[in-house]
Amino acid sequence: MAIDAAQPETPGAPEGRQNPQGRPPPETEETAVAGHAPGVRHAPGVGHSPELRPGVQRLPIAVGPGPGDLTDGAAASEATAGLLEVRHLNAYYGTFRAIRDVDLSIRPNAVTALIGPSGCGKTTFLRTLNRMHELVPGATVQGTIELDGVDVYGSNIDPVRLRRVMGMVFQRPSPFPTMSIYDNVVAGLRLTGRHQRSELDAVVERSLRRAALWDEVKDKLRENGMSLSGGQQQRLCIARALAVGPEVLLMDEPASALDPIATLRIEELIAELKQSYTIVIVTHNMQQAARVSDRTAFLTMGEDRAGYLVEVDETSRIFTNPRERLTEDYVSGRFG
Ligand SMILES: Nc1ncnc2c1ncn2[C@@H]1O[C@H](COP(=O)(O)OP(=O)(O)OP(=O)(O)O)[C@@H](O)[C@H]1O
Ligand SMILES: [Mg+2]
Repeated sequence: MAIDAAQPETPGAPEGRQNPQGRPPPETEETAVAGHAPGVRHAPGVGHSPELRPGVQRLPIAVGPGPGDLTDGAAASEATAGLLEVRHLNAYYGTFRAIRDVDLSIRPNAVTALIGPSGCGKTTFLRTLNRMHELVPGATVQGTIELDGVDVYGSNIDPVRLRRVMGMVFQRPSPFPTMSIYDNVVAGLRLTGRHQRSELDAVVERSLRRAALWDEVKDKLRENGMSLSGGQQQRLCIARALAVGPEVLLMDEPASALDPIATLRIEELIAELKQSYTIVIVTHNMQQAARVSDRTAFLTMGEDRAGYLVEVDETSRIFTNPRERLTEDYVSGRFG
């Protein structure tokens, strides 16, 4: 897949677009799926402009099929596609520093859990990875984030495409309310100009199968997405993210609004998906982190409320024999 600026896919969406109230639209899953960039502010610390510049050379971010090509053993399962390298990351809301100097390598084909007390910057960190952070007015980023060696804040990167390569799943499942199950899955693909019925049919089935939802919905694809249970809606949102051929899935407390059975299904699904994708999951549930993740990163915040990384290690080590006292206190429930 390529994330390049050569072929803007939302030519009708000018930078800085605002809603009638004069405020940027709220950040929703739609924002991420559609890749709209309302109210984009440049990230001066990074020093690159996210403007779409015609004629910029195509930048392949990973060798493999393009959007929607979810053939078995898709790109991400080959070689090491989906390696994230975060260095000296600082993230700000205006002058408030929410993230301080985070260095983290995130492996492909594995689940990395982010844990830490409320407000330490877990969501902010996730959103810096796929450049959703910059959708908040006044929000900026310093440092570098590379996906397979490519600077995701590079001047030749189209953030709209980047957000397809790094799909996001939110705490509350949020299918597009007016759309059928089928249309929800292919919403992102249609924005890329893919309209051929046979192709869309194939992507819908593959994505729903991968999201472990196909058997439950195959006979009612034309029904409204909101007619599904909460757990099914969350899997629908995962299918929607998968449909555009991501390499990375960023999950922000994806099961916290679900009952224990639906939670278990999501956890089983995550275990399946990690064979093909890089997965980063934020969770407040220590048992869940221990169950689903291979590596765990523990963040906390200093007196200035800036979040920082205390340690990252194999999950088994973080929960049994962490290096840092702060981590031990947190995972054993003595803090946070
Ligand atoms: N849009 C925003 N504008 C200004 N400050 C923000 C914004 N979003 C988050 N913050 C601040 O950034 C810090 C980190 O917030 P963030 O939501 O990333 O924390 P979190 O670790 O995800 O918390 P939780 O576990 O409660 O979800 C907090 O101090 C928060 O108040
Ligand atoms: Mg959060």
